[in-house]
Amino acid sequence: MQKNTLQTAAKITHSLGVRDQYSEGHAQRVSCFARRLALRLRLPDNEVHDIRTAGLLHDIGKIRFSSRVFRNVKERPSKSMLRQIKKHPEMGKAILLNLRFSPRVIDYVYCHHEREDGTGYPRGITGDKIPLGAKIIGVADTFDALITDRPYQKGRSLPEAFDVLRKLSGSSFDPVLVETFIREITANGI
Ligand SMILES: [Fe+2]
Repeated sequence: MQKNTLQTAAKITHSLGVRDQYSEGHAQRVSCFARRLALRLRLPDNEVHDIRTAGLLHDIGKIRFSSRVFRNVKERPSKSMLRQIKKHPEMGKAILLNLRFSPRVIDYVYCHHEREDGTGYPRGITGDKIPLGAKIIGVADTFDALITDRPYQKGRSLPEAFDVLRKLSGSSFDPVLVETFIREITANGI
């Protein structure tokens, strides 16, 4: 049963990848980084599994973006594009509810852009109100975005990426998660 969920998630992510190859690789890497952080935190197996699944699906709501938003990777997004982009957690939640994913997976996807200090979206919830799995995916997501080459920005080195994560520690991210994640990557590489 559990394996099926993960396989279904991988297939869905692949369908997003048909439209945008970067997205598929990103989803796989975020899932893998999030799983490693969850394992290092010694979370129970079923929670690790849900975090891995949600990591694959975290940006699934982007499947509903217009092609203009999808392709527009070189310039700064306009206000209306930003509004559309910020809706992807809600769109993801709606898609996964339809597909009957577990409430926990859906919640992680819905909350992966929430931040410790309430500056995230869609609800601007803070600290303990953000599910741990969503916080883990948030750290993994940001880290992957930092180290990966994009059309408008070269990927950063590991020390540079660690620096950025530490700057965001406490405001965007839970400091314990940031330090545990850095320990994991330092020990085992990317
Ligand atoms: Fe996202």
